[in-house]
Amino acid sequence: MNDRYDFLIHLRAIRDYQDKILSSEDLDAILEAGRWTGSSKNNQDWSFVAVTDSDRLQGLATFGSYTQPIKDSAATVVLVQEKGGNDFDIGRAAQNMMLAAKAVGVASCPITLHREEGASDFVGASRGAKVRYAIALGYPADGAEPRRFGGRKKPAKVIKRDQG
Ligand SMILES: Cc1cc2nc3c(=O)[nH]c(=O)nc-3n(C[C@H](O)[C@H](O)[C@H](O)COP(=O)(O)O)c2cc1C
Repeated sequence: MNDRYDFLIHLRAIRDYQDKILSSEDLDAILEAGRWTGSSKNNQDWSFVAVTDSDRLQGLATFGSYTQPIKDSAATVVLVQEKGGNDFDIGRAAQNMMLAAKAVGVASCPITLHREEGASDFVGASRGAKVRYAIALGYPADGAEPRRFGGRKKPAKVIKRDQG
């Protein structure tokens, strides 16, 4: 195809990061990509909480069951779905931020915050907001690869051409 296509199709969840602070320029670029994401009716019913303090990262990690990447991250962006928002919009914002991260040389991993209420209180989200997902970020460790390459289901299994 072409380099830009390869760039996005090869976005993977990376969980091994350097022990290095994320530059504010890189973090801002990632957050801007979230802010500029399209949303239903352009409602933008979301906010993005960037957690960078290491004690706060350890605290945030207690709200999910597979959160080692948060503990190891240089920063984690918590996706706050404000009241009235929807999952599709939050998913788009997450993917945009992950692609932006890759574009500036930052690795990322989506994380589920299984204990949503606790996570919501932790980031001071407003009443009625849903706080279910976050994105762990960090400069990739030397030779960082996906932990387990999951591959994908065969095209015939997931892609259908409507026959009318
Ligand atoms: C909605 C969602 C939630 C995820 N939650 C976690 C998580 O809590 N912890 C984790 O280590 N990875 C998590 N992941 C990463 C997936 O395990 C990963 O995307 C999947 O195995 C496919 O790997 P790839 O993205 O490298 O192709 C999550 C991914 C998505 C899309």
